[in-house]
Amino acid sequence: MAEARVVVCHPVEEARGIMERFAFMERRCMEVLAAWVWTTGELGTKLTFGAHAHEDAMQSEVFRDRGGELRPSLPTYGWDARPPGFAQLDAIFRELADAPTLAAKLGGLYGALKPWLVTAYDDYLAAADPILEAPTVRLLEQALRDERRQVAWGRARLDDLKRMQPDADAERWRRRVRHLLNEAVTAPTSDDAARAPLADFTGTQPAVDPRFDLIYYTPGVGSSREFEIDPPNETEVRKVMLSTLTAVETEAAELLCRILVEFPELPWEMRRCLARQMWDECRHAASQWRLLEEIGGYLGCYPSIVYINPFAGDEPDVFKRLIVLQRVVEGSSVDQHRPRGRYFLDQGAIPLVQMFDYILADEDGHIALSRWTNELVGADQAHLDELSRYQARKEQEFAEYSDWIVSKRRDLQRLFQPAAAGSARV
Ligand SMILES: [Fe+2]
Ligand SMILES: [Fe+2]
Repeated sequence: MAEARVVVCHPVEEARGIMERFAFMERRCMEVLAAWVWTTGELGTKLTFGAHAHEDAMQSEVFRDRGGELRPSLPTYGWDARPPGFAQLDAIFRELADAPTLAAKLGGLYGALKPWLVTAYDDYLAAADPILEAPTVRLLEQALRDERRQVAWGRARLDDLKRMQPDADAERWRRRVRHLLNEAVTAPTSDDAARAPLADFTGTQPAVDPRFDLIYYTPGVGSSREFEIDPPNETEVRKVMLSTLTAVETEAAELLCRILVEFPELPWEMRRCLARQMWDECRHAASQWRLLEEIGGYLGCYPSIVYINPFAGDEPDVFKRLIVLQRVVEGSSVDQHRPRGRYFLDQGAIPLVQMFDYILADEDGHIALSRWTNELVGADQAHLDELSRYQARKEQEFAEYSDWIVSKRRDLQRLFQPAAAGSARV
């Protein structure tokens, strides 16, 4: 007589389906947060959304990899095979990506969706065998730590917001997303997840922290307003430098977030690298902002000259956007940051030295990511030729920008002799 079929843990086939669902949800969380980096002004929140987007990309990857390991060899047993319902889940993320206010974003994602994920991970762990499913247990425990920390941040941020301006959006969105999630998991569906991008930011500007005093430089047009900066002493020189660096690193993060949202068809391995680059740019901006405040400055204490998004933002060819960032801008920035690092080392300004030390290590990695363009464009010679003509044009525009910025900022002339003006940037 056959034994009673008491299942003691998740069958491999079921575990695989759940890992795919978790990977999908974490990937969409990453994309929603990346969209919000574009649409959120307040700098601290913008940069934290960027950090969480990277974390979610990493979680998506481990679930995806684990799903790939779980290949069933036996017929279905012990669970009720259901289609994953990605289409319903996808619709929730699309709604969330468009959340109209910061309170709605925080209420929907950190008040409903992420707590729902925490419960789902907890439920999975409670039913998992600690030996047979140990690799899954280990990665779920890590994901739970990350998600709980994110949820705690979101709640604290929402409490701050409520103290400043009571707003019903948060609770309305929390309820709405919670309701949609409950429906999505019970509704039977066989649809694949929609493949269209969550958002398209063509023709829009990224939201800006109102404390910034931004001046936009557009190639062939010039600056959005006239200015000249001639800081009277070394402390003011540093404030000028850090004011602009904070804004430009934020621009780099915004451009990468746009790419993560607008080009979901790029290979996952490349998107994961871009998510890492985006997080690095957020960290750079955060470290520069911190130092700016430590020396008595603040956002907007000097004008910040930004140019990356006007240089490349709406270009429909993603490789052209990446060429501007990874070859033209970052290729030059490491050449400028090395003398800066040495200059501050001679001065004994160790916090600045350490900041540039880490930024340089990160930026070298970002320049190396440009290999993806060659790998993906491959043998398409006409496209390669077009990209190299585009790069040459952008390098020329960048040289013109560099000459212009040095003429406007006396502080740059102490680091970069006029003969080398073509390589000065910020
Ligand atoms: Fe950077
Ligand atoms: Fe970078």
